[in-house]
Parts: sequence; structure tokens; C-alpha cells
Amino acid sequence: MPPGPYRWFVVAELVLAAVTFVALLFVVAPYGGRHGRPGWGPTVPARVGWVVMEAPASLAFLGFYLLGAHRADLVPLLFLLLGQAHYVQRAFVYPLLMRSGSRMPVLVMLLAILFNLLNAWVNARWISEYGDYPVSWLADPRFWIGVVVFAAGYALNIGSDRILRRLRRTGGGYRIPHGGGFRFVSSPNYLGEIVEWTGWAIATWSLAGLAFALYTVANLAPRAMANHRWYRETFPDYPASRRALLPFVL
Ligand SMILES: NC(=O)c1ccc[n+]([C@@H]2O[C@H](COP(=O)([O-])OP(=O)(O)OC[C@H]3O[C@@H](n4cnc5c(N)ncnc54)[C@H](OP(=O)(O)O)[C@@H]3O)[C@@H](O)[C@H]2O)c1
Repeated sequence: MPPGPYRWFVVAELVLAAVTFVALLFVVAPYGGRHGRPGWGPTVPARVGWVVMEAPASLAFLGFYLLGAHRADLVPLLFLLLGQAHYVQRAFVYPLLMRSGSRMPVLVMLLAILFNLLNAWVNARWISEYGDYPVSWLADPRFWIGVVVFAAGYALNIGSDRILRRLRRTGGGYRIPHGGGFRFVSSPNYLGEIVEWTGWAIATWSLAGLAFALYTVANLAPRAMANHRWYRETFPDYPASRRALLPFVL
């Protein structure tokens, strides 16, 4: 852990993960159509909200990364590539592909921007400035295990979002998704996201990466439970063996 103010940003992200987890056990974040409801102030089209709130996760991450002394080193550049593979897709491709006409509260968008800035600072500064990743890190099993876990989560996340999009191909409302990770859980897209950032934490072997993975669990696990409840209440024929987030377990 480096000295100075940087460490307090990491601590802040860990504290935020704990606060978020407890808060979301009581309040379902109203950012999607299913869980959207009045009383959260002005809203914007969800498509616009996703671009505005996720763009800093890509662009600010890149900007903070470029401040680092190790910005031209091979391993930090590979980490940058992983992060951008996720966030360029999430900020600039996913919103264009969305088939939802739902709206998002401006408040949720602003909170997400704040988190994305904090997380970009914590992780980008770690990989390009404070962390120590010589080329020999490529021979460390933690790097490759982490990259493989990240790639598996990425594929699950994107594949699951694609299945959800196809449900809307013929128009209409919500349906029961089938196939892929949906054979096992109600929110395989969230599971994929959690697996991705767990892979990132392993590959970077850092407190910064761990804070990101924990925050992702804190944010998405309660939401996966809410989605699961919603499916069961909405569809009487919902597959009984399907779990919320962890196959066969939860
Ligand atoms: N890293 C993080 O902390 C974080 C936080 C939030 C989200 N994410 C990621 O962002 C992506 C989207 O998140 P989300 O919470 O919006 O996911 P979601 O609730 O699963 O919804 C994704 C999209 O699919 C539609 N949809 C969902 N279930 C459907 C069904 N049964 N039938 C028809 N359409 C359905 C939704 O439409 P409606 O909008 O109309 O409901 C929305 O457009 C996911 O990949 C997630 O992992 C990451």
C-alpha cells in the first residue's frame, strides 16, 4: 500500500462497498425498467444514462493511467487493454444495442459517475504508478489465472446481455430468458461481471483490484436477488431449479 492520499481512496472504495451492500439490501436501485419507480427525481432515457455514467470509467481511466510513470510498460498496458475492453463495450457499444425504452433517474447516473471516477483513480493509478509490474509478472501464474477468469466473466456477461436483448427482438415486454447462463441463474450477466473483476483482482494481485471486485459484488448481488424475486413473482412457470446468482447455491 503506497503512502499518501492514494491509500485513502482505496479505503474509501472499500467502505463504499460495505455501505452499498447494506443500503441495497433495503432499497432496490431504481436504474432499470423493472425496478424503476417514481420518487427519484428527474430521469433521462436509459440509453443516454448508460453512456454518460459509464464513459468516465473508460475515458477517466485512460486519463489517470496516462499520468503514471509506468504508462509505457508492457504489463500495465495489458491491464489497460483489459479494462478498456470492458468499459468501451459498456459505455459506447452496449447503450447503442439496448432494446429498452426505460428511463433512469439523474441521481443514479450522478452516483454512478462518482463511483466510476473513484474506481478509475484507484485502479488506473495503481497499475501505471504505484504497482510494480515488471515484464516478469507475465511468468506469474496469478497473471494468467486472472486473465483467464476475466475473459470467462467477460464472455458470460456479454453473452447473457445478448440473450436478454434477443427477448425484445419481436417487441413486447419482459419474458423468461433461456439458454446460456440462464439455465442456472436469473442474472448471469451480473455473475459474469463479478467473475470479470475477480479475475482483475487476481491478475493485478492488488488491494485496488480487490476493492473493485468487492464493490461489484456489493452492488450486483442484492440486485440479482431482487431480479430473482421479481421473476418468481411475475412468471408462475418460472424454472424452479434456477438460482439467483450462484449456480446450485444462491
Ligand atoms: N459493475 C457494476 O457494478 C454494474 C452495475 C450495474 C450494471 N452492470 C452491468 O450492466 C449491464 C446491464 O445491467 P442491468 O442492471 O440494466 O441489467 P438487467 O436488469 O439484466 O437488464 C439488461 C437489459 O435487458 C432488459 N431485460 C432484462 N430482463 C429482461 C427480460 N426478462 N425480458 C426482456 N428484457 C429484459 C432490460 O430492459 P429494461 O431496462 O426495460 O428493464 C435491459 O435493457 C449488465 O451487464 C450488468 O452486469 C454492472
